[in-house]
Amino acid sequence: MIRPYVDQDFMSYLVFQKQAAGIGPVERYKNPASLRRAFARPGFLANEDILLMLGPGGEILGSITMRREYFLRRVVLSLLMVHWPADENSPGKLVEEGMRIAATRAMLVAHVNVSENEVKGIGLLERLGFGLARRYLELEMPPAALEIVSGQIPGEKHRCMRAGEEEKLARLQNAAFKDTWGYNANTAVDIKYSVETSGGPQNVVVIEENGDLVAYCWIMPGLEGEIAEPDAGRIYMIGVHPAQRGRGLGRYALMAGLRMLKAKDKVRAVLTVDSENRTALALYESLGFRVTAASLWYERTLKAT
Ligand SMILES: CC(C)(COP(=O)(O)OP(=O)(O)OC[C@H]1O[C@@H](n2cnc3c(N)ncnc32)[C@H](O)[C@@H]1OP(=O)(O)O)[C@@H](O)C(=O)NCCC(=O)NCCS
Repeated sequence: MIRPYVDQDFMSYLVFQKQAAGIGPVERYKNPASLRRAFARPGFLANEDILLMLGPGGEILGSITMRREYFLRRVVLSLLMVHWPADENSPGKLVEEGMRIAATRAMLVAHVNVSENEVKGIGLLERLGFGLARRYLELEMPPAALEIVSGQIPGEKHRCMRAGEEEKLARLQNAAFKDTWGYNANTAVDIKYSVETSGGPQNVVVIEENGDLVAYCWIMPGLEGEIAEPDAGRIYMIGVHPAQRGRGLGRYALMAGLRMLKAKDKVRAVLTVDSENRTALALYESLGFRVTAASLWYERTLKAT
């Protein structure tokens, strides 16, 4: 049986999603506080955006999360199955039900991220009519490179973001990522939520010129509660306003972000980048980042209902 998540499922869902296997890099939440934080994402409604598949005794066997992105009119589906893929039919049913519901909510396309070596997950998506849209790379900067780069930053033209600058950062981020595949424009409310849940404005390096933010690098040192490797920190976002590119601001902001990770006792830095983003890749590789893994984004057009 498939039904929407209800509030009473909270504790059993928490236990389930910690143990289940997923297609792709699905976010997991270790404790009630971090799951509640995830449920508080602007525009997300657990009762509408999570479907559960239950076994005969009412136990949760699988779930699908539908993250709706209104500007792109896409839904990002995340699938978890407790014994996946023991029963080949169950995951397919959940994905199809997720797509059916998303289509009734004005979404036009469904996207699923799957690790490149998850052969069964990829097979399932292809059987369901999904096609390959994009390849994303996982990059890592090893300890020796982080040690060197974090000590080399030229000058001090950056500062940390301040509370109240969410609107400014939303404007900069939306301008920087306007032409980026899969980027859904953010509102100031979205930015405020992401800043608060990633450790606060002190984790965002910004460069300001003439009263405007022109470049930024947003780090995620890893939150208590989330399942993360404790010695690794993430470069979450980096962007430069299109009118200010090619002046070294991207390199500078990234180095400042890396120094901040190092100051938080991280010995490795990780990030995710679209394999087609040649500019960003050249920057990362020039500083010592190396590819460690890849994931694929699969896409299917939704049937309007
Ligand atoms: C990636 C980005 C941050 C680079 O910012 P920037 O300020 O223009 O970059 P810099 O001037 O500091 O240049 C840094 C390096 O990027 C690469 N680069 C910059 N412009 C480039 C171009 N037009 N073509 C190829 N490589 C380029 C080069 O390796 C350059 O190093 P070099 O000057 O020593 O050759 C910027 O293009 C951007 O905001 N892109 C959109 C957002 C994005 O894709 N972010 C990364 C997501 S993972």
